[in-house]
Parts: sequence; C-alpha cells; structure tokens
Amino acid sequence: MADSPKKRAALAALELVEDGMRLGLGTGSTAKFFIEALGEKVRTGLDVKGVPTSRWSEELARKNGIELFEPDETTVLDLDIDGSDEITPDGSMIKGGGGAMLREKIVARAARKFVMIADASKRVHTLGAFPLPVEVIPFGQALTVRAIREVLSEEGFSNPQITLRAAPNGEGFFLTDAGNLVADLALGRIQNPETLDRKLTMIPGVVTTGLFLGFDVHQILATEDGFLDG
Ligand code: 5RP
Repeated sequence: MADSPKKRAALAALELVEDGMRLGLGTGSTAKFFIEALGEKVRTGLDVKGVPTSRWSEELARKNGIELFEPDETTVLDLDIDGSDEITPDGSMIKGGGGAMLREKIVARAARKFVMIADASKRVHTLGAFPLPVEVIPFGQALTVRAIREVLSEEGFSNPQITLRAAPNGEGFFLTDAGNLVADLALGRIQNPETLDRKLTMIPGVVTTGLFLGFDVHQILATEDGFLDG
C-alpha cells in the first residue's frame, strides 16, 4: 500500500536531517511519522539529538531510541520539524490541535529552520476555519474568557463560539503539559491575525495562542501523488 501524504511529508523532512544536528521534535500524527522514521535512522547510526515539544513526543522519541536533551542545554536548534492545523502560502499557521502550542512555539522560536510537515488539506488562504486554540491559565479562567470575548468583539467577530477543550476521556477539561486550559475559538475567517494575536496575548490570563506568525517556514505539504509548491 502507498504511504499516506502525512507519512510522505515526514519522510521528505527526514532528508533534511544531517549527522550531528539538534532537532525540535513536533507533536501530532504527522510528527509521529517523522519521529518513528528518525528512530529507524538512529538505529542505523545517525547521530542526532532532539528536544521534544510535548510529553507525548518525549515518550515517542524515547520509545524510538532518540537521544533527548533539555531546551536550555542549547541556544540554537538546527531544525524543528512539526505539523500544523492550517498554513497559508506565506507560512502563517494555526497550531495547537494537540494542545502543545506553547512548547511548540518556544522550540520553533529557537530553531534556525522550521520545517512544517502536513498533508495538503492543511493549506488555506485565510486562517480561521480551524478553531483557534488559546492557552489560558486556570486561575480566573472565566474572567480571561470574558476578556477574550471583548477582544473578539472589538475585532469584528459577532457572537463567536468559545469552548473550553474537554479532556480526551470526557472527564473535566483538557490540560496542557504546563497544566493550563485551552479555549478553542470558532472564528471562521481571521482577517488580521497579527492584531488578533497581539490583543489576545496582552490579556493577562492568556499564555499563548495557536497563531504562529512571522516564522520563516519551509513547507512540505504532500498530496496523494506529489507535493504542493512552496
Ligand atoms: C499539536 C499541533 C499539531 O502539529 C497539529 O495539530 C497537526 O497535527 P496532525 O499532524 O495530527 O494533523 O499543533 O499541538
């Protein structure tokens, strides 16, 4: 059976990895293909080290025999390889479908090169069809959600739906690796992502958003039988 587009995107990213590199290891089903394929290379002698972007990717990397290091042990990463929920041709993204956007953003910021791996369905021209994840600290979360609603109203979103993400087992709320909540904002179309991101991150209880803007992204978007340009 032919490899899925997600797997082919992951395998194409593996070709960018060189001996001795320090890598950011992403989170999600596409990153899983990358980490597993990297593990196979490591078993045949490739010498790399990785910093995981979540407990989930840490566990997967360990299982696959990849040596890990703490982010503070280096100032620069050679490559960060991670997935995306939406990406525009100029590289603006929504991430955080798996709730790992805080660590993912810290790691992406430290990387010389950010390699985004996904299937071609993630390509959009305007962000926002995917609900925007916003990481919120539990203290005063109702006040923070109210402040988010005010910002959204200022930005022209009429009656947006804001959902606190449920835990995967349905019991209580989803908690990020940092012990925070995730508010998913159903916005439809985000016309001014920079302004929205700035205003949301100025709210004291907001830790970060899933908007990844201004990164120089190397995009690998695989279709059923090839790759999208750019
Ligand atoms: C996790 C992420 C993921 O990279 C994003 O959700 C894409 O996941 P997948 O590769 O499973 O489609 O941002 O926080």
